[in-house]
Amino acid sequence: MRYNLPYLKYKDKIVNSRAVLAPMAGVTDIPFRKMVRKWTKDSLVFTEMINSTTFVQSRKIEEIAKATEEDHPIIYQFSGSDPYMMAKAAERAQKIGAFGVDINMGCPTSKIVKKGDGADLLRDQKRAKEIFEEMVKSVDIPISVKIRSGWDDNSIIAVEYAQLAEACGLAAIAIHGRTRVQLYQGEANWEYIKQAQDAVNIPVLGSGDLWTAEDAKRMIDYTGCAGLWVARGCLGNPWIVAQMDNYIKTGKIEPNFSDIEKIDFMLEHLALMVDYMGERGAILASRKHVAWCIKNLPDSELVRRNINTLLTHIEVKDALKSYQQHLYALSASKN
Ligand SMILES: Cc1cc2nc3c(=O)[nH]c(=O)nc-3n(C[C@H](O)[C@H](O)[C@H](O)COP(=O)(O)O)c2cc1C
Repeated sequence: MRYNLPYLKYKDKIVNSRAVLAPMAGVTDIPFRKMVRKWTKDSLVFTEMINSTTFVQSRKIEEIAKATEEDHPIIYQFSGSDPYMMAKAAERAQKIGAFGVDINMGCPTSKIVKKGDGADLLRDQKRAKEIFEEMVKSVDIPISVKIRSGWDDNSIIAVEYAQLAEACGLAAIAIHGRTRVQLYQGEANWEYIKQAQDAVNIPVLGSGDLWTAEDAKRMIDYTGCAGLWVARGCLGNPWIVAQMDNYIKTGKIEPNFSDIEKIDFMLEHLALMVDYMGERGAILASRKHVAWCIKNLPDSELVRRNINTLLTHIEVKDALKSYQQHLYALSASKN
C-alpha cells in the first residue's frame, strides 16, 4: 500500500479513514450525512453535486449548500465547465468553511453532458486543464476531481487525467471504473484505478461496486489506491463506510446491526428528514430510504408498498414500528 494515513489534510483537519462517503445527488443531503457521521467521525463526506453557477449567483447560498458542524470535514462537489465560474464556486465554498472542493467530471446524465459538464469533460482535455488551473490558483483548500475511466472503451483516459490532475496541483482524483457509455451497467473495471494509482503520487480514490467490507479490502489490495469512494453500498446501510474502514484496518467487520436495530436507525433518519425538509419533503425522501433499508429484510415488500401510500411522517413512523414488532416476533419464534 502506497499511502499512510492521513492521505488528505488541510490545516488541522485530516482524513483518517480509507473509506469516504461519495457524493450522490438526491441522497447525500444533511440528514443522510448525519447518519453516516454517527460512525465515521474521522472520515470525509461530500455534498450532492451542486451547479457552480447556481452556487455562485444564489443569494440563498445557505439553502443550496448548508453544512452542519458535524458535517466537517466536508467536500463541496461542483458541476460546470466554465473555469471562471468553477473557480468562483471554489472561492465561495472556501469562505463558508469547506475542507475541499471536488470537480464533477463523471456525471453521465444527458441533461448534464449536453451542457458540456460532467462526463463531457472527459472528451475535452484542454477545458479540463483550464478548469483545474483556474481553481487551484483561486483557493488554498484542496481541489480534487471525479472522473469515469473514459467516455467509452475506445477512449480510456484514467491515467492521462490522473497525470494531468497531478501536474495541475490537484490534491486527489476519484475514478469510477465505468465509462460514460456504460452508465451503471456491467462491472466497474478496477484495473484503470490501479493503473492510475501506479502512475501518480497523489491519492486516487477508487469507485465502483463497493458493496461490502470484503469488496473494500479487495479494491485496496488489488489497486493500491489510497482511499475508497463509497456510493450505492451506503444506501440503506449508512454505517458501511465505517465498517469498510474498520475491516481494512483491523480485519473485523464492525459495526454490525440486527434487523431490529436497522429499523431504529431508519426511525432516527426519518426524524432528521422531518427536521431538515419539513413534512412533505421528508415523506417523499423517506420512501426511497425506507425501501433501501428494508430491501433484504424478511416480509418487507408489503411494508414498502404501504409506506409509498402514506402521507404523514407519523404514519410512516407507525408503519415502521409495527414492522419492527413483526421482526421482534420473528426473532422470538427462532429462539
Ligand atoms: C443516485 C446516485 C447519485 C450520484 N450522484 C453523484 C454525484 O452527484 N456526483 C458524483 O461524482 N457521483 C455521483 N454518483 C456516482 C457515485 O458517486 C459512484 O461513483 C458510482 O455510483 C459508482 O460507485 P458504486 O458502484 O459504489 O455505486 C451517483 C451515483 C448514484 C447511484
